Amino acid sequence: MQYHIVTYGCQMNVHESEKIAGILHNMGYTYTDQRESADIIVFNTCAIREGAEDRAFGNIGALKQLKKQNPNKIIVVCGCMTQQKQVSEKIFKTFPFVDIILGTNNLHLLEKLIKQKITYKKRILEHLESTNVVEGLPCFRTSGKNAWVNIMYGCNNFCTYCIVPYVRGREVSRKKQDILNEIKDIVSTNQYETITLLGQNVNSYGNDDNTQGTFANLLQDICNLEGNFKLTFMTSHPKDLSDDLISVMKENDKIIKEIHLPVQSGSNKILKLMNRKYTVEHYENLIKKLRTSMPNIRITTDIIVGFPGEDEIDFNQTCELVKKIKYDGIFAFMYSKRSGTVAEKMDGQVDEETKNKRVNFLLNLEREIKEQKGK
Ligand code: 5AD
Ligand code: SF4
Repeated sequence: MQYHIVTYGCQMNVHESEKIAGILHNMGYTYTDQRESADIIVFNTCAIREGAEDRAFGNIGALKQLKKQNPNKIIVVCGCMTQQKQVSEKIFKTFPFVDIILGTNNLHLLEKLIKQKITYKKRILEHLESTNVVEGLPCFRTSGKNAWVNIMYGCNNFCTYCIVPYVRGREVSRKKQDILNEIKDIVSTNQYETITLLGQNVNSYGNDDNTQGTFANLLQDICNLEGNFKLTFMTSHPKDLSDDLISVMKENDKIIKEIHLPVQSGSNKILKLMNRKYTVEHYENLIKKLRTSMPNIRITTDIIVGFPGEDEIDFNQTCELVKKIKYDGIFAFMYSKRSGTVAEKMDGQVDEETKNKRVNFLLNLEREIKEQKGK
């Protein structure tokens, strides 16, 4: 019996697919890279931008043929798209060959649902609103020498463009002891060189549960564990990055000197509209502190172009900031309207052509900066 998984989106999803693989391995399935021969195909979807959703819809549609050839094949769709009730209902109606639909909150039920499908032969649409932290799920790691470790789920920030808080719910931190135990297990296998801690906003670790300590405390406790490993983390929010975190990073050789610090825009007007809760000046000051403590730190960022209300002046301010900071990497995205977010209804939506021009301009700028740095 074989399975195949198609993963869209971020590292969180890549890691969730490792958990899906763990569940399937425990049930006796093995991996195949061929969709045709797989007995189970899982689509782990992403909802962050329209493009990702469109691609998933197209590729799920293409499974119709495979199901025709083998009606016993089980097709599962899960992830951030199907955590939204209206989307999962749409997939259920549009694609009658999809057997099981579940969201991110009920992944732990996957084994039960597959068995139910095999026994009763009925299609299943399973939706769960609340985010529970379920410990002890199996995990079949597929990311080479890197082991992903979730430290928290959800997001409280409600950046006005972002769907994540609606899909993933409020922030819930894992218990520190559970995280430390998972890392001890990973280190004891001697198979991994780096451990990457994952959360939508790792800097607010513990804010929902003051018995767990801060993110800086967590990093220090992980560094105190025995063993030879390197530690890194993503994603950091500029409004929550503390001086304690910078000093823990500086003082511990186990922590890789790199940080992904999404700025999103170089215009204070746009940052306010985005509800990012920091200014360009605050952000630049953070970069200065990081570089003063760790002169060779690698800094990467995310930028959204074409957010509603962004004019040429705002976009130029973003370019000026990029030139000043000279990032080691930029992920630039065209703003994508997400249903249910505040920005969806904002005036001043930017046309696709302008977004395209701006994203290309930024990517060229990034290339020039990299060339200059390489010299
Ligand atoms: N449109 C474009 N980019 C987005 N991001 C989040 N939501 C949207 C959206 N609606 C980007 C942000 C975030 C990254 C993970 O995805 O830059 O940091
Ligand atoms: Fe989305 Fe903002 Fe939360 Fe990041 S911090 S997941 S961009 S709402």
